[in-house]
Amino acid sequence: MKKKKRPKSIAVIHGPNLNLLGMREPEIYGSATLRDVNAAIRELCDELKCKVTTEQHNGEGELIDAIHAAAARGSAIVINPGAYGHYSYALRDALASVAVPKIEAHLSNTHAREPFRRRSVIAPAVDGTVGGFGVNSYLLAIRAAVALLDKMSV
Ligand code: DQA
Repeated sequence: MKKKKRPKSIAVIHGPNLNLLGMREPEIYGSATLRDVNAAIRELCDELKCKVTTEQHNGEGELIDAIHAAAARGSAIVINPGAYGHYSYALRDALASVAVPKIEAHLSNTHAREPFRRRSVIAPAVDGTVGGFGVNSYLLAIRAAVALLDKMSV
């Protein structure tokens, strides 16, 4: 009997201060709210026929729990770590501990901003990074995650 494939699923995890999107430094992060971003994510995932969950946490511990839970469900992870990406070794260890596809996404081009934003300590623990394209960074990251899930299931 043919084994039924598990539906593809992605967990989109937004980090600290991203709950304020739309009013937070709109000249850098744009005018879309987190709700708008999540709606665009859901629309793309419907199109790609993949399940998606979205969540936002300001705390490092909650983000780590979200990474563990996503991996336990077998979901690929798209994470915007916010400022934690620049210095949280705990977040890096959490990502390094799970074997699902993992993509880091940033709305802004962190390399074109203050020097402290040019470094990502989580980058070595993910499959790749997308940044600088606003809401599109998430959509590109989702396409990359789907491609990795497809590769895994052949
Ligand atoms: C960000 C970039 C980070 O440097 C910053 O701390 C954020 C948002 C981005 O999406 O561009 O909170 O992750």
